[in-house]
Amino acid sequence: MSVDDVVTYTIENRIAWVKFNRPEKRNAQSPALNRRMLEVLEELEFRADVGVLVLTGEGSAWSAGMDLQEYFRDSAAKGLAGTRKAQSEAYAWWRKLRWYQKPTIAMVNGWCFGGAYGPLYACDLAVAAEEATFGLSEINWGILPGGGATKVATNSMAWRDAMYHTLTGEPISGSKAAECKLVNEAVPLAQLKERVTEIAGVLLKKNPVALKAAKDAVRRVMEMTYENAEDYLIRAQEAADSFDAEGRKEGMRQFLDEKSFKPGIGTYDISRHKR
Ligand code: COA
Repeated sequence: MSVDDVVTYTIENRIAWVKFNRPEKRNAQSPALNRRMLEVLEELEFRADVGVLVLTGEGSAWSAGMDLQEYFRDSAAKGLAGTRKAQSEAYAWWRKLRWYQKPTIAMVNGWCFGGAYGPLYACDLAVAAEEATFGLSEINWGILPGGGATKVATNSMAWRDAMYHTLTGEPISGSKAAECKLVNEAVPLAQLKERVTEIAGVLLKKNPVALKAAKDAVRRVMEMTYENAEDYLIRAQEAADSFDAEGRKEGMRQFLDEKSFKPGIGTYDISRHKR
């Protein structure tokens, strides 16, 4: 297998399906995978034929977290510099994904442990197979959930659930992950791709400049006071207007003048505005 194959992708109808592709290692994130994933995300980010990115896994895993051999043990053997390099390569692509130009969906098809929570949280939306298995397994092999994983738990789950999840290392199903809000929803594995395609289809109909502004706003305002958020949102919309002056005017025109749609229950036709 060439090193490039640890991540694969296809583009179908403006959806980029990106796959962790180390099924024999349950898609554990090795340094080679982390480096390649960053390259793939960069390759896809501004392509006109990509409107939504879906991150999924080949085989039985979404990702079994960090590779204990290649990411932890081999890197540590190179001293502090080795450990820090491995961390920065992983964190780099998770960060790229958190602030990605296009909306992103984690399609969690199977095992999802520890270090997989970084990319899970980085995706804007997450849909799991009911049959998938999630866990902060770090405590089971003697470390705390690092690489942001503890933060992912506390940002996503209720405090008591996050504490229980972190301290017990108990695996939970995709259905339970949806119940405690680690993911948006869970569906039977057989329907997973269909459901994700449906959600991607909804996003593809929205104004892409507004989507990018809105997804960033959700992440930013979480950490702001109300006053700061109010101000940030004004600036963010004004900045979005500078990239897309016509979008909102066209939306208003189709509703107010043409009466061709109702924003409360539908989306304006974005194909009809000039960019
Ligand atoms: N790091 C390194 N190797 C891993 C790995 C990881 N996180 N997860 C799986 N693998 C490897 C196994 O060592 C095994 O390698 P081998 O075939 O060379 O022996 C191979 O992947 C298959 O794993 P196996 O355990 O046989 O598969 P399984 O389907 O029975 O179980 C898991 C899957 C995910 C439950 C199990 O592999 C596991 O617990 N992995 C570790 C999960 C974890 O703690 N991740 C957090 C890291 S931060």
